[in-house]
Amino acid sequence: MTNISELEVCVFDAYGTLFDVNSAAESCKEDIGSNWEEFAMLWRDKQLQYSWLRTLMGEYIAFWQVTQDALDYALKTFNIDDKRIRSNLLEVYFILKSYPEVRATLEKLKNHGIRSVILSNGSEDMLEAAIENSGIIDLLHGVYSVDSVQVFKPHPKAYELPQVKLGFISEKMYFFSSNAWDACGAQNFGFQTYWINRFNHEQENLPGNKLYQIPDLSAVPGLLGI
Ligand code: 2OP
Repeated sequence: MTNISELEVCVFDAYGTLFDVNSAAESCKEDIGSNWEEFAMLWRDKQLQYSWLRTLMGEYIAFWQVTQDALDYALKTFNIDDKRIRSNLLEVYFILKSYPEVRATLEKLKNHGIRSVILSNGSEDMLEAAIENSGIIDLLHGVYSVDSVQVFKPHPKAYELPQVKLGFISEKMYFFSSNAWDACGAQNFGFQTYWINRFNHEQENLPGNKLYQIPDLSAVPGLLGI
């Protein structure tokens, strides 16, 4: 039986939303060269493509492996054949740090009795490492990896996880993602959704209403009236 709750819950995507996905390539920019930003973009694009394609193919594998497969594609494309660079990039990616405003935002939510949870395509081990490195574990009520359903977002089964894990549904369950495709998926599933448009991208042409945008997570408390 589904419980209906009055509790407010903020559901956050992880990579790109809480954790800075470009910081791994940036930290190795001396090795990658001046086009490190294009490298970072290709790595991220491939990582996402592989996750979606694997879901369609029914070939789920942990996001950490997807991340490595995508990195190998990017390294080949940029003619980088160096095991040390590969392992440095992965080492940093595994423990990515959060964006500067994340801790203060989560603190404010917690102080007002609002629960913050993560819903991510990331595998459990990488999420745990990034959360620990960012020092935010005490501010999270739950961390939900799609590992438990073996399909990646934007599959609806992935968006079901917060209500399944929390054991209740609430009209005050809000979803935040800096990935427009993810925000569209969450909105399509039924979440009240906010797009953290960190990189000033265009709206996607996907099903659903125009996404409500904020520039970063420091705007979240204001949205919730706290
Ligand atoms: C996530 O954390 C992949 O950014 C996406 O789920």
